[in-house]
Amino acid sequence: MKLTWYGHSTWQVTIGEVGIVIDPFFNHNPLAPIKAEEVEAQYLVLTHGHGDHLGDTALIARRTDATVIANAEICGWLQRQGLERVHPQHLGGGFHYPFGYLKLTIAVHGSSLPDGSYGGMPAGVLISAEGKKLYHAGDTGLFASMALIGEEGLDVALLPIGDNYTMGPEDALRAVKLLRPKVAIPMHYGTWDLIAQDPHAWAERVRRETDTQPYVMQVGETYTVL
Ligand code: NI
Ligand code: MN
Repeated sequence: MKLTWYGHSTWQVTIGEVGIVIDPFFNHNPLAPIKAEEVEAQYLVLTHGHGDHLGDTALIARRTDATVIANAEICGWLQRQGLERVHPQHLGGGFHYPFGYLKLTIAVHGSSLPDGSYGGMPAGVLISAEGKKLYHAGDTGLFASMALIGEEGLDVALLPIGDNYTMGPEDALRAVKLLRPKVAIPMHYGTWDLIAQDPHAWAERVRRETDTQPYVMQVGETYTVL
């Protein structure tokens, strides 16, 4: 399992030959080193309907024929935009895809769609594949039942630290203590001034105060889950 960060909450997860993009926000993402037109994916996974996560879903899905995995409300909205390949799931539910098992988990946030439509509940994403477990928290505040997600035994947790819209560094540190992943990687910071943070200062606290190994990604870098 390999993870490439495109800034914000946008990740390419590569499992074997399968490319999965979580929250495909490229063309309006000031950090993204590539354009939506260059993205190759077999699956697009959406944590919620906000523009900085839904991103370029329609554009990429139309060109690549990728299947979109999201909650039922977002999938229904995308179908009304003419996208045919969708796989609706909902919170707490998982499905065995060819690449592995993907479950939507709870997140404490909103999920309205760009035209104001109801986007259902926001989600986190738990992917189990190749004997590894990856948790992408989506946009969320801190919640106590992160401890239940942690009971799954996480190899990597991708956590927002930007504050303002999501957990800030303090709460993201508390999240690490609940989730207890082997590795924690910060995201959803530095995209705009409003969510500017020092990821290295956060990583230092994770290193000092928890048993988790922090890792700060460079934009465009690929991390191999060992
Ligand atoms: Ni959001
Ligand atoms: Mn967001």
